[in-house]
Amino acid sequence: MTVLVTGGAGYIGSHMVLELADAGEKIVVLDNLSTGFVWAVDPRATLVVGDMGNQALVETVIRQHGVDAIIHFAAKIVVPDSVADPLGYYLANTVKTRAVMAAAVATGVKHFIFSSTAAVYGTPKVMPVAEDAPTQPESPYGTSKLITEWMLRDASAAHDLRHVVLRYFNVAGADPQGRTGQSTPNATHLIKVAVQTALGLRAKMDVFGTDYPTPDGTCVRDYIHVTDLVGAHLAALKHLRAGGASMVANCGYGHGYSVKEVIDTVREVTRVPFKVDYAPRRPGDAAAVVADPTRAKTILGWKPAHEDLNEIVQAAYAWERRLANGPG
Ligand code: UFG
Repeated sequence: MTVLVTGGAGYIGSHMVLELADAGEKIVVLDNLSTGFVWAVDPRATLVVGDMGNQALVETVIRQHGVDAIIHFAAKIVVPDSVADPLGYYLANTVKTRAVMAAAVATGVKHFIFSSTAAVYGTPKVMPVAEDAPTQPESPYGTSKLITEWMLRDASAAHDLRHVVLRYFNVAGADPQGRTGQSTPNATHLIKVAVQTALGLRAKMDVFGTDYPTPDGTCVRDYIHVTDLVGAHLAALKHLRAGGASMVANCGYGHGYSVKEVIDTVREVTRVPFKVDYAPRRPGDAAAVVADPTRAKTILGWKPAHEDLNEIVQAAYAWERRLANGPG
C-alpha cells in the first residue's frame, strides 16, 4: 500500500511525507514544483514531477505504485491572489482537483484526504466555529475549496470512495527536527513575516488593524503547529483504512492569539525588539477565527502535542535561520 501525496514538495506536504515515512509508509509525491522544492521531498519518497490536472498521469502513478490512499495538498493558497485571479484559483483548486478525484474513482482508490480551510466559514458568527456552522466563504480561495468539498461529498456518495476533509486554521511552525519548513519566498503569513522581520530579512512589518472588536484591538487566530496538522492527516488515514465514514473536521486548537500577542512572542523568542507599524485593516480579514476541534479529537482520535505558541514560533525561527543559510 502506498500513499499518494500531491503537493508533497510544498510546505505542509513535505512535513506530511516526513511523518508518513517515519511511520513506515510507502509514499509517492506528485508535484509540479510551481511552489515546492525538490530538496524538500524526503528521499524515502518517490517524486514524480507533473501536473495533478493530468488525469492520465495521476492514474498511471496510482497504478504503478499501488496507491490505496490520496492525501491531496496541491493547491493555490493566497487569499488576496485569489481575488485578483479567481479563474486561476478555480482551475488549480477545483478543476484540477476534479481530475485527481476522477483518477481515484477510475483506479479504485478508496481513501481521499483533502486540505480545506477555515476560509470556507467566512466570518463565523459563533466562536469557536464547529463544522456544522454555515459556510459563507468571502474569497474565491474559500469558494474554490468549498466547491471541492462538495464534489468530494457527491463523488463519495456515488462511488466506492470515502474521504476526510480537513479544514485548516492558521498553520505555522516547522518540523521540530529542522528537516523542512515554510520556504516560500514572499510568504505573507504573520508568524513567518514577524520572524523574518526579527532576523532583519525585512525592513519592517505592519500590523493590519488595531480597532477590531477583540481584547487588544488586533485580529485573533488559531495558530496550529504544522506537525500537529499532519498528525491529523495520519489519524484521518487510519480512520479511513479502518473503514471509518466520510467526514469533515476542523484542524485548530480551540484557542486564539491576537496579532499583538504573536508579535510579542516572536520578540521574546528571538530577543529582538523589532518595531512594527500600525497600518489600516487589511481587506477581507475577519476579527476572530478560532476552531472547535472536538470532532477531530473524538472521531479521529487526534492528539495535538505542540500547542504552545512559543514552540511554534521557535520552530519557525529555527527554520528561517536555516533557510537563510541555504537549505537542502
Ligand atoms: N497580519 C498582520 N501583518 C502581517 C501579516 C498578517 O497584521 O504582515 C495579520 C492579518 O491581518 C491577520 C493575522 O495577522 O489578522 C493572520 O494573517 P495571516 O495572513 O497569517 O493568515 P490569515 O488568517 O489571513 O489566513 C489564514 C490562512 C488562509 C485561510 C485563512 C482562513 O493563511 O489560507 O486563514 O481564516 F484561508
